[in-house]
Amino acid sequence: MKRILFATSEAVPFIKTGGLADVAGALPKCFDKRYFDVRVILPKYACMKQEWKDKMEYITHFYMDLGYKNCYVGIMHMEYEGIQFYFIDNEYYFSGPKPYDSAPWDLEKFAFFSKAVLSVLPVIGFRPDVIHCHDWQTGLVPVYLHDSFQQNEFFWGIKTVMTIHNLKFQGVWDVKTVQGITGLSDYYFAPDKLEAYKDANFLKGGIVFADAVTTVSNTYAEEIKTPFYGERLDGLLCARAHDLRGIVNGIDYDVFNPETDKCITRNYNAKTFRKEKVKNKIQLQKDLGLNEDPNAMLIGIVSRLTDQKGFDLIAYVMDELCQDAVQIVVLGTGEERYENMFRHFDWKYHGKVSAQIYYDEPLSHRIYAASDAFLMPSLFEPCGLSQLMSLRYGTLPIVRETGGLKDTVQPYNEFEGTGTGFSFTNYNAHEMLATVRNAERVYYDNKREWNKMVDRAMAADFSWSHSAKQYEEMYNWLIGDK
Ligand code: ADP
Ligand code: GLC
Repeated sequence: MKRILFATSEAVPFIKTGGLADVAGALPKCFDKRYFDVRVILPKYACMKQEWKDKMEYITHFYMDLGYKNCYVGIMHMEYEGIQFYFIDNEYYFSGPKPYDSAPWDLEKFAFFSKAVLSVLPVIGFRPDVIHCHDWQTGLVPVYLHDSFQQNEFFWGIKTVMTIHNLKFQGVWDVKTVQGITGLSDYYFAPDKLEAYKDANFLKGGIVFADAVTTVSNTYAEEIKTPFYGERLDGLLCARAHDLRGIVNGIDYDVFNPETDKCITRNYNAKTFRKEKVKNKIQLQKDLGLNEDPNAMLIGIVSRLTDQKGFDLIAYVMDELCQDAVQIVVLGTGEERYENMFRHFDWKYHGKVSAQIYYDEPLSHRIYAASDAFLMPSLFEPCGLSQLMSLRYGTLPIVRETGGLKDTVQPYNEFEGTGTGFSFTNYNAHEMLATVRNAERVYYDNKREWNKMVDRAMAADFSWSHSAKQYEEMYNWLIGDK
């Protein structure tokens, strides 16, 4: 039996701010249980729902040094859907209304978490063959493992994987402060280790010291080796190119299933969508103040409202787009300028545009089910899960060809009768608008073609099974078992 530990700052259903939580919650369930014992460790945040906190069982606690501090480390445990979850408890670090705040506090919080992840292992008697780290928050796990933990035989030979879900966030602060926080020696603060452009960088530490580095799509794995997408680590990623691979994300096909989803108005499948899917649209139009018109093409957006997602393009041509026979529904939170932009258009084009500026999981399912198309013109996109959810619900994605969007949405080719969505290349608002208009043309003038695309979209398989196998192969390779 091979033992794998996922170290992550979020995982569904316990805590979620973005796609990382979906991945860390769903992927562990998809490994072959005959050969892999995959467990997950994450912080116990005060902002988790009471329902979950009540179900956690206290195992033990101890004290651990971090820089000059001596910190309480509580260990809580819960089995959920067959997976063992461990939670690190420390009310000093993990209080507050959300998981993330700002640097340098977040750096101290996740330095604590990363060191605690290693410290708890002998205590719970679980010695992983591989620790699989996710994003900068766990970047120090491979670093600490390389450091003082090597004095304990228990840790010898443990391998580490660093998965980059978003290179934009790296956990950066000045060297002196980070040295004080982490207690790591001068040795680590050199340009071939944690130091990047004179500052200390957690993700860089993870990339340097991990045995393998992955990211969440093939295209993004290539893109991040270039200056435009490399976020100033492209040189390092080129240097580690042999240990860097892209493994595309999947989604949980049990949770995202239009046939059984309890959040949506009317269930449907690949056979019944022609009649049933539209009922979701009619109800959503009613509930969200859109004009009730089953024939109007509804474009959905469910997203963090940040510049990553291409909202500058949408802002630029929104007035033009609203002259067309389309409706737009947005569900999202984030940067104020985008929140206000959508509120403004909701006011200006009431009945055609509906802005829902909050976080709402069930409503997101209803939008995936109700919309005809899903707009995601990202500036960059490591993988993207929303377009996969859309495909699953027979809602055709309109995307920019970057990162995982390029790898998962096959562009419509009217001559060959192929494709599962619509895409454009350049980060240009009118190129996006032309692509949306091309989709409108097919939707209004050639419904049969549109429905055939829906057939293909719903038949595409983005469950985890294929990608989980690729992770298994990588673990086997790392452990030295072919
Ligand atoms: P990212 O991780 O960059 O935010 P992904 O597409 O990988 O992008 O994942 C986003 C996830 O968050 C999806 O599951 C999406 O449905 C969900 N999501 C984003 N915003 C909201 C919201 N306001 N309400 C509900 N779910 C949301
Ligand atoms: C990040 C990326 C997103 C990806 C998700 C899960 O949040 O922005 O593209 O799907 O992580 O890997």
